[in-house]
Amino acid sequence: MHQHLARTVTAALFLGASAFVTMPAQAAPADPSSPTVFAHRGASTEAPENTLAAVRRAHEQHIKWIENDVQRTKDGALVVIHDATLSRTTDVEQVFPDRSPWRVADFTLAEIRRLDAGSWFAPRFRGERVPTLQEYLTLLDRDQQGLLLELKQPELYPGVEKQTVDALEKAGWLDQAHLAGRLVIQSFSADALRRTHELRPAVVTGFLGSPPVSRLKEYAAFADQINPDEKDVTYAYVQAVHSVDGPDGKPLRVNAWTVDDLTTAVRMAALGADGIITNRPDVIRNGVQ
Ligand code: G3P
Ligand code: CA
Repeated sequence: MHQHLARTVTAALFLGASAFVTMPAQAAPADPSSPTVFAHRGASTEAPENTLAAVRRAHEQHIKWIENDVQRTKDGALVVIHDATLSRTTDVEQVFPDRSPWRVADFTLAEIRRLDAGSWFAPRFRGERVPTLQEYLTLLDRDQQGLLLELKQPELYPGVEKQTVDALEKAGWLDQAHLAGRLVIQSFSADALRRTHELRPAVVTGFLGSPPVSRLKEYAAFADQINPDEKDVTYAYVQAVHSVDGPDGKPLRVNAWTVDDLTTAVRMAALGADGIITNRPDVIRNGVQ
């Protein structure tokens, strides 16, 4: 059966039967045609986003792929955090009350390391820190997990593409094993992605957004994936993306974000999405794989 038709049938069966079936909690081997599940900022409904605790929680859930966000400190360290400021996910306003607006780029790594990045989420995560990219990579390697690395707001950090690629190389992440199946660099910035591709064409890259079909070939010069907001995903769009070959000559892939409910996840699978980026990876995985 054609892969997409098979998925559609599976999805329809699942939707019809889901009220009566309890999906297994343990990870079973994934159907190769089922979407890859990416833990968005780690298992971020169960642990503070973008912390090592969120990576460990995803591993406990047998999730192979983790998405994160990379930015840079005042003294040039790459750290894993989503917002351009530290306020929402740390206690920076208590520790440094006079440093408004608390931008990541205005703090040294030593200062950021003093911050509690866990208590805002739940008291039991007190003491979690904003991880460096290096620490993050080390933990992923320990458990053989893959990384969907987002260059977050790269326009704030000139040269961050090269710095990130260099850091990945230093950490051993540009060897064949990582390149072939454990690393994707994505960004909302086409310029940053183009620079990344030019630096290291072998690194798989993903553009965050949904360019018009008429421009997909332009993006395919530097992006291997088109990763749209799930609201923009239609069967026709996925087909159009799949019909274009990326820089390595293989069809572009589609990873939809951010999908936290099973109905939408099953719909994404039925529409042909290759991956689903979710804050609830265990729930979504048990629904689509
Ligand atoms: O991976 C997709 C998603 O992370 C993009 O949005 O704001 O959560 O980084 P955001
Ligand atoms: Ca992100």
